[in-house]
Amino acid sequence: MTVPDPLRVVLVGAGLMGRAWRDTIEAAPDVELAGIADIDPAAAAEAAAALGRPVPTGTDGVALAAATGARAIVNVTVPEAHHPVTTAALFAGLDVLGEKPVAPTVAQALSLAAASEVTGRLFMVSQSRRWNPQLFALRAMAEELGAAGSLTTEFFRAPHFPGFREEMAHPLLVDMAIHPFDSARFVLGAEPVAAYCESHNPPWSWFAGDAAATAVFEMTGGVRYTYAGSWCSPGRQTSWNGEWRLSAEKGSAHWDGDHDPVLEAEFTPAARTPSPFSGIEGALVVFTDALRTGVPPMGEVHENVLSLAMVEATVRSADSGRRVLIDDVLAEAHAEAIRNEANPDVRDALAAWPSVRGVLTGG
Ligand SMILES: NC(=O)c1ccc[n+]([C@@H]2O[C@H](COP(=O)([O-])OP(=O)(O)OC[C@H]3O[C@@H](n4cnc5c(N)ncnc54)[C@H](O)[C@@H]3O)[C@@H](O)[C@H]2O)c1
Repeated sequence: MTVPDPLRVVLVGAGLMGRAWRDTIEAAPDVELAGIADIDPAAAAEAAAALGRPVPTGTDGVALAAATGARAIVNVTVPEAHHPVTTAALFAGLDVLGEKPVAPTVAQALSLAAASEVTGRLFMVSQSRRWNPQLFALRAMAEELGAAGSLTTEFFRAPHFPGFREEMAHPLLVDMAIHPFDSARFVLGAEPVAAYCESHNPPWSWFAGDAAATAVFEMTGGVRYTYAGSWCSPGRQTSWNGEWRLSAEKGSAHWDGDHDPVLEAEFTPAARTPSPFSGIEGALVVFTDALRTGVPPMGEVHENVLSLAMVEATVRSADSGRRVLIDDVLAEAHAEAIRNEANPDVRDALAAWPSVRGVLTGG
């Protein structure tokens, strides 16, 4: 694949996270910010003004990419806009690096995976916390520790978020827990099979929806992943990554989420080279490398969808009081995606998938 150097990209979405991406793109040596788009033209103009050089702005990312000769977009819009903005970009021949979540629903995420197949364009989801070098170290420890038994994450914080998070039905599960769920898949090298979850809202909560939840996942290979969290937890705070413990055949590994993880075992761990990637900067490097090499990156849309399926399964379990099979979530999402698909080529691609899990996991 021929990719110009630098890679010209349009940033779509100039909100809080969009401005972090603007600075990251601007600082990247082999990427050039060609324009900034936002449906709110004042937001785009304000984000561009801070750059100290003229940068074109607009309200439509795809039109702006065409006008500026950009080759890709970075989609940092609100989750509800992820599907329409990314679909339009893929069909305009643009590659896409998109913020998490891939889409608000697994059905929309499947549609995006199929759109990427039909167009042949790369769609990578930036799940920023996966690109943490400490998490890579934890994964390396997990590999050395042999068969995994249990992995746990505790996440207890007390943030105030004026706005949509304080009004959502499941703010912790939907807005935050996707990060540790995605990280758990990575650490274990395992995929979710089933989820049981209870959520509740402590009486003192300043959230309208359930700000606390406990979830147990059965993962492939029989290992259990347990997540316990609260977003209205005054007192001792965990890190934003949460506190992690892995119990495995040959010992254990612990990560406080802020420092290097610690291994406790009766063998000497191998020397490790730290991962060179970190946060959204890491995701951008991996995206540009993938365009140059043609090798699908971690976070490629198919690979990301099961993290969102874990979120959807926990919400469904919390609402129903039942254990939920991930394959049921995928089957229903697949049927919904086919039913709602407006593009006949994408619908045909979805309908041709022999197995949703198989397509998502490359099996
Ligand atoms: N990885 C992380 O740690 C992290 C942290 C915060 C937010 N995020 C994600 O980043 C995304 C953006 O979050 P945010 O906090 O910046 O939200 P935000 O509300 O501050 O900004 C979103 C922007 O998107 C614009 N927008 C909406 N629809 C659009 C469209 N169709 N075309 C162009 N622009 C459009 C809005 O006008 C707004 O300016 C979300 O998906 C969120 O989950 C990730």
